[in-house]
Amino acid sequence: MTGTQDLPEIGVGMLGYAFMGKAHTNAYKTVAYMAWPPPLRPRLVSIAGRNARAVEEAAVRYGYETWTTDWRETVADPRVQLFDNGGPNSLHAEPTIAAASNGKHVLCEKPLGRTADESFEIWREVAATGVKHMCGFNYRFVPAVRLAREMIEAGELGEIRHFRARYLQDWGDDPALDTWRFHVDEAGSGAIGDLASHVVDVARFLVAEIATVSSLVRTFVPGRQVDDAIEAAVDFDNGTVGTIEATRLALGHRNGMQWEINGSKGSIAFDMERLNELQVFRADGDRARGFKTVLVSETDMPFWSWWWPPGHILGWEHTFVHEVQHFLAAIAGGEVAPYGATFEDGYRAAEVCDAFVRSSESGGRETVAYRSL
Ligand SMILES: NC(=O)c1ccc[n+]([C@@H]2O[C@H](COP(=O)([O-])OP(=O)(O)OC[C@H]3O[C@@H](n4cnc5c(N)ncnc54)[C@H](O)[C@@H]3O)[C@@H](O)[C@H]2O)c1
Repeated sequence: MTGTQDLPEIGVGMLGYAFMGKAHTNAYKTVAYMAWPPPLRPRLVSIAGRNARAVEEAAVRYGYETWTTDWRETVADPRVQLFDNGGPNSLHAEPTIAAASNGKHVLCEKPLGRTADESFEIWREVAATGVKHMCGFNYRFVPAVRLAREMIEAGELGEIRHFRARYLQDWGDDPALDTWRFHVDEAGSGAIGDLASHVVDVARFLVAEIATVSSLVRTFVPGRQVDDAIEAAVDFDNGTVGTIEATRLALGHRNGMQWEINGSKGSIAFDMERLNELQVFRADGDRARGFKTVLVSETDMPFWSWWWPPGHILGWEHTFVHEVQHFLAAIAGGEVAPYGATFEDGYRAAEVCDAFVRSSESGGRETVAYRSL
């Protein structure tokens, strides 16, 4: 390795400049010098939004070469080879499919579509183009979550029996608040697509495919079009049983994505608000047994070779750096699966989310049927 001139560039086109547009842009900039050498060097080419003044300011602030109020220009731009969709859920399908049809690799935020049908269609159309695709389930890229996957794969937990997870936020407890996230045409669903989809993806990433669900879906805030909360019991195809809860009305919980897994040889537990830590219990006969807190920051732990000396901890934004690095490596000749979420994973999570709704409506247990291409 001699210098950056040897690293091939990849032109990035971004849709959205707010929450995710900012997090992803930060990742493209950071990956270029922290995950050294990057598989490809991101060149920030074009950013799209609705409001000319705001998107121009975003282009200047983040360092995009051009900006537009029409995302069609971004997905057609010959300088763009990677289209990154950080738009609201209603704007995932059309721009993502258009970009892929123009030969751009596509990274689309979660939930992939507003429904399983829409998600399936996005996966189907994009897969047919042959480009690389990844769905933004960034919690796969928390070092502690990847370590958990490696421990489970190595059999360190034995046979997995329980998956117990909840994703708790509280910002939705404001009847006066209006956002696209409360409009069914723009969001598709509420806590289900926003939060439970993350939990479903982590469940599939760490445990197995979800086979059946029994759930209760509730809207508490009068007049709200989408669900505020979901509670479900789930059955995995490897015999694991579990619970999944997600709500935007759990006062005091800001971004509490928490899960625990119990196996025949031990247990592990994780809390997103303490994302550098993994709680580990090993049933190894030690008299002083008990959960221990593992600070996931050793240089031989997932993603840590790029960062700091042990104990100099990471934050939420680093998950996107890891995610983007993974996608660039996939484009450069690697694979998105199994560590990244493909559009098939995005679609499968959406099938489980649809089953939550069906089960709550029917009052019964619903089987999740997965389609293939
Ligand atoms: N992976 C995660 O942890 C995570 C976290 C938050 C949001 N998300 C997902 O990311 C997506 C975006 O969410 P967000 O929180 O960034 O939303 P946001 O409201 O903060 O940003 C949405 C952006 O889309 C732009 N936009 C909206 N309509 C547009 C149009 N017609 N043309 C061009 N631009 C348009 C807005 O200007 C804004 O910049 C959603 O799908 C959401 O579910 C994922």
